[in-house]
Amino acid sequence: MSDIVVNKKTESMIETQIVMKIPARNAIVCPIQIGMNLLATPEKWLPDDWQKKRIVIITDETVHKIYGKYLLEVLKEAKPLLFSFIPGEQSKNAQTKLAIEEKMLEAGCDRQTLLLTLGGGVVGDLAGYIAATYMRGISYIQIPTTLLAMVDSSVGGKTGINVPQGKNLIGAFWQPVCVVVNIDCLKSLPEIHLINGLVEAIKMFCTNDAEYFKYVDKELNRVLQKETTVLKNIIERAIQIKVNVVSHDETESNLRMILNFGHTIGHALEQVTHYSILHGYAVAIGILVEAKISHLSGFLSVEDYNAIESLFYKLKISLNPLKTMDCDAIIQATKVDKKIRNNQVRFVLLQRIGKVYHENDIIAHPVSDEIIIKALKEVGGMQDGRQ
Ligand SMILES: NC(=O)c1ccc[n+]([C@@H]2O[C@H](COP(=O)([O-])OP(=O)(O)OC[C@H]3O[C@@H](n4cnc5c(N)ncnc54)[C@H](O)[C@@H]3O)[C@@H](O)[C@H]2O)c1
Repeated sequence: MSDIVVNKKTESMIETQIVMKIPARNAIVCPIQIGMNLLATPEKWLPDDWQKKRIVIITDETVHKIYGKYLLEVLKEAKPLLFSFIPGEQSKNAQTKLAIEEKMLEAGCDRQTLLLTLGGGVVGDLAGYIAATYMRGISYIQIPTTLLAMVDSSVGGKTGINVPQGKNLIGAFWQPVCVVVNIDCLKSLPEIHLINGLVEAIKMFCTNDAEYFKYVDKELNRVLQKETTVLKNIIERAIQIKVNVVSHDETESNLRMILNFGHTIGHALEQVTHYSILHGYAVAIGILVEAKISHLSGFLSVEDYNAIESLFYKLKISLNPLKTMDCDAIIQATKVDKKIRNNQVRFVLLQRIGKVYHENDIIAHPVSDEIIIKALKEVGGMQDGRQ
């Protein structure tokens, strides 16, 4: 089995380690440590000889101020280098990547350099892609600091950048040697980014775990209050789901597409709005539209659709981007999605909350433009939590 969970008691709380193994590539094992105070205890996640290693931290300017300076101090014996960039999706591009790579080359970083990505999904994707390509590949550790990066982007080895033609279109599968999920980092995370990440966890539960979907719904206030135990439960369960999926299908030939539920429409919205909506908020609208498509295609019950709609209503997800958008523009944007085959966009469809529809084990299915347009119009016509 590829998913081993080891619990060990510490003074502060239970610390968990989930080990991701990819049987198709025997050598790849990635421990994911989940706990508190992990930035202060690098001996738990760095190699034994870390003091002798050339360590490079890549982060954004916001995270640099809050955690980067602290990590530099903790690791000072290794004299680490830190490179930061302007926060946000607009930095996840080839220019930022090249600028950092040139600085690493100037600083004499070689193939033994260990890279630490400290930040949200933008830092993780961009810096992970630097790790994948710098001198044809160096080791890196993901240290996610947003909920989105903890539950999703730091696990699974997808790295990449955006180009004018679309999001994440250039990149590589490159597994980190370890992921360090330090839950304390969420204390400084603004609520909007907490919700942004929660949407990705809700996506995992919509497709894989009805009980956890209900748990999020029931404990929503405690999530928004950032109660550690509730957050840890959600993070752990979402990571377990992701690890199970990735260990069976690292390169998204079929099963991993399950993680794209909500993302075909979500990515299209991000592209059409020039990334002015946060990823999780675009995916939330995508989940609603793709759940509606699942309902219109005769799979998802109206009760289950309503449960998803009600949860996003409570989270005050704005549907304005959809209300003001031309359906054709969205459909057009879905056509550059990486999941298209034979020029046909394919969707992950829900059979019920916690289970996706699959036919002969095929996870993503073609849907007619008529159904997509109907779903876009019906969801766009809904009242949202902000009104
Ligand atoms: N690789 C994957 O499998 C995968 C999966 C899902 C999403 N993604 C990618 O993730 C990206 C979105 O990631 P994100 O939502 O984390 O965005 P982000 O990295 O831009 O972080 C959001 C904001 O929060 C700030 N921040 C980060 N940690 C903080 C903290 N602890 N306290 C206070 N502020 C903090 C950042 O500076 C930034 O301004 C998208 O580019 C998306 O494509 C990748």
